[in-house]
Amino acid sequence: MKEETGKEVKESSTYPVADSTNKTESFIISSNPSGVFISRGKEDALVTKNMVVGESVYGEKRISVEEGETKIEYRAWNPFRSKLAAAILGGVDQIHIKPGAKVMYLGAASGTTVSHVSDIVGPEGLVYAVEFSHRSGRDLLNVAKKRTNIIPIIEDARHPHKYRMLVGMVDVIFADVAQPDQTRIVALNAHNFLKNGGHFVISIKANCIDSTAAPEAVFASEVKKMSSENMKPQEQLTLEPYERDHAVVVGVYSLLPDIMVRSTWAQLFRMESVWQRSPLKRVLKE
Ligand SMILES: C[S@@+](CC[C@H](N)C(=O)[O-])C[C@H]1O[C@@H](n2cnc3c(N)ncnc32)[C@H](O)[C@@H]1O
Repeated sequence: MKEETGKEVKESSTYPVADSTNKTESFIISSNPSGVFISRGKEDALVTKNMVVGESVYGEKRISVEEGETKIEYRAWNPFRSKLAAAILGGVDQIHIKPGAKVMYLGAASGTTVSHVSDIVGPEGLVYAVEFSHRSGRDLLNVAKKRTNIIPIIEDARHPHKYRMLVGMVDVIFADVAQPDQTRIVALNAHNFLKNGGHFVISIKANCIDSTAAPEAVFASEVKKMSSENMKPQEQLTLEPYERDHAVVVGVYSLLPDIMVRSTWAQLFRMESVWQRSPLKRVLKE
């Protein structure tokens, strides 16, 4: 089964569902273990499994499926309203946000995309949602009241020390703050909260950083900044046709420089060959 982007969707389950709005029949195709699903029907849609059955967060469509006694509900995730959804439908290889993950979300706004991240990580995961606007923060607090895996933090993400008492180490940082110093903001939070080997996913809006330069030049210069902060970019894609002049960069946070990673492997390999040739190994064997 191929989805719109040509990416392979692992079909772990396909079952008919009732569309709560227009009563047409759809099919949910699970792409486990990512926690993100495709609903196939009259119109295909990206969906997440609703943590709070019976409730929409921002008027999005819900579709439900009966499995024996239990009712499972999915919420449509609009790529024109969420850069993370746009990245997934654009074919990004990995978002690293999955069931059970601990995620720091910078630029949470009113909590629309945050609510889908909350669906994906599920009850075993956590979303630390940072937003400095008190106006958006009010909506975010309301979303978090019903979703116990969201910890709303109404602070400036430039000052991580102000919320360090609330936050544990995280597996992933997702950032969508649309600020000229966004990479520095992500780096500050990564140095404080991202575990070594954890991942970052950054949405870059070119004209927020430099409205006079070509978007590709802006993306390249941001990628360079990341590399000097132990953030190693692994994948970059633009968000056309959902957003213009936006890119998403996904990478790994690694405290070991590449050269050390390579030399550590080389050392282990040398130790292994020395051990294979060692007389002690023969003695112990005998
Ligand atoms: C593009 S919007 C985010 C949209 C959101 N990610 C979504 O998908 O619904 C950027 C948000 O980042 C917030 N923001 C900008 N700078 C920030 C900072 N330094 N600390 C915390 N939030 C910030 C803005 O107030 C705004 O709500």
